[in-house]
Amino acid sequence: MQDSQQLNKIPSSSRLLYLVFISSSVCVIYLLVSLFLVEFSKPADLFSISEGVQAPTRLEHIVFGISSDSNSWRSRKDYVELWWKSNRMRGCVFLESPPRRNISDSSLPPVCVSEDTSRFRYTYRWGYRSAIRIARVVKETVLLNHSNVRWYVFGEDDTVFFPENLVKTLRKYDHRLWYYIGANSEIYEQNHAFGFEMAFSGAGFAISASLAEVLANIFDSCIERYPHLYGSESRIYNCLAELGVGLTREPGFHQLDVSGNAFGLLASHPLTPLVSLHLMDHIDPIFPNMTRSKAMEHLLKAANVDSERILQQTVCYDRWFSWTISVTWGYAIQVHSRHVFLPDLLPAEETFRKLKLKSNNISGVYTFNTREYHPDPCRRPTIFFLDSVSFCKNGIRTIYKKYYENCSYDMGSPRKLDEIRVFSQQLDLDTKQLQAPRRHCCDVLPSSGIKLMEIAIRECRKDEMIYMH
Ligand SMILES: *[C@@H]1O[C@H](CO)[C@@H](O)[C@H](O)[C@H]1NC(C)=O
Ligand SMILES: *[C@@H]1O[C@H](CO)[C@@H](O)[C@H](O)[C@H]1NC(C)=O
Ligand SMILES: *[C@@H]1O[C@H](CO)[C@@H](O)[C@H](O)[C@H]1NC(C)=O
Ligand SMILES: *[C@@H]1O[C@H](CO)[C@@H](O)[C@H](O)[C@H]1NC(C)=O
Ligand SMILES: *[C@@H]1O[C@H](CO)[C@@H](O)[C@H](O)[C@H]1NC(C)=O
Repeated sequence: MQDSQQLNKIPSSSRLLYLVFISSSVCVIYLLVSLFLVEFSKPADLFSISEGVQAPTRLEHIVFGISSDSNSWRSRKDYVELWWKSNRMRGCVFLESPPRRNISDSSLPPVCVSEDTSRFRYTYRWGYRSAIRIARVVKETVLLNHSNVRWYVFGEDDTVFFPENLVKTLRKYDHRLWYYIGANSEIYEQNHAFGFEMAFSGAGFAISASLAEVLANIFDSCIERYPHLYGSESRIYNCLAELGVGLTREPGFHQLDVSGNAFGLLASHPLTPLVSLHLMDHIDPIFPNMTRSKAMEHLLKAANVDSERILQQTVCYDRWFSWTISVTWGYAIQVHSRHVFLPDLLPAEETFRKLKLKSNNISGVYTFNTREYHPDPCRRPTIFFLDSVSFCKNGIRTIYKKYYENCSYDMGSPRKLDEIRVFSQQLDLDTKQLQAPRRHCCDVLPSSGIKLMEIAIRECRKDEMIYMH
């Protein structure tokens, strides 16, 4: 299926039925076998790591510090539960006081109660002094004194991490050197105010263990020197700056400083693995007709099958109908009823609204390229959202179903499609490939018909280019 070079557009329904039957029965067997393998391949003691420093970084080498408070933890623990793996992860969620009810849920990180910070001054007029407590999560996480730590990773209670991609991303760096890794805001104004060189904590950030240990020792002196700063991240950033360390930007971390529908931003993810999403309350659920955490859980179904490919975008063309098909794996497919050049699809469609900030006049100035979100739904591409994901013969099959759009006059041909199936191989790039990533190619398969389209994703050939031939 993957190798098909033909561009024969005539659907053959009997062949299609056969194909569906074969692939679904193989899928079931494949799925059972892989579940079995996962269940029985767990090592006995995951934390007894005895290999040398050269061995690749694993999840067990990371200690997490999650900042929260008793109020927000009650609802946000649902987000943390989505990605937390108790048997492979270490760390704490930091609250200002012990939770009223004794929550000892094994699917959640243990609760640590932050130390008293009332002795430190906080002089920023419009801010909250909890910023000091949150900043000190960095120090208090290091002081948990875990062994065999290579990286400390910090986030908020509404940060959703993609753990395998986090590990793959950190593997690019030598943990024995001093690293401060993360991302800044999507909004120019936020970076202008807080620093382009500061890692925003909603996106999460990583500090190598060698650096974190030094930072923990001197941290309180920084808290004392910077009582006038607003937030927790500024205190961490200033302290690292005094140590002479700058930010290493990784675009897989996402602060998501937008509001409303983040679709356009997610659908045009950069070519690096998705590391985190900051699910703030002003962002709509990422799938229609679902709650915020159900929608995230739905995305994670795909991420659990192929973590590295999640949100990776590829484009292919249907020459017969002159359609442009943009696949954002594990999330959504957009079918344009006309020819669009690939570079014109890479800017983020402005489906989102700007955040309400203090001086609102430039809060719509982003640090990435955007393109118009057409006000008329009939002029937008037809969107298909992820429905299901499964293993099948030779790889992975994701199914996307058409999303209802209020469009009555343009019943152009892509809108007649109900479903799109995408076949792909599990993505498992090594560090060298991650340092120089390349977009994949796709083909519309000849098994496609009027209501159903089938697409295969594959590596591009050496000099292959993505355009309509
Ligand atoms: C919470 O429950 C655990 C296990 O049941 C127990 O060990 C612990 O002491 C309890 N903590 C508090 C604060 O009650
Ligand atoms: C970690 O080690 C430091 C220094 O030895 C000590 O002060 C601190 O209490 C230890 N923390 C824990 C949680 O044991
Ligand atoms: C939303 O979900 C509900 C229940 O799952 C379903 O009944 C309803 O038809 C859905 N609405 C849309 C617009 O898909
Ligand atoms: C934004 O507003 C502030 C205060 O109202 C003003 O000083 C500044 O020049 C404005 N900036 C832009 C880019 O319009
Ligand atoms: C669909 O669009 C029409 C005309 O633009 C509008 O009157 C109607 O309320 C819309 N329906 C929905 C469900 O949004």
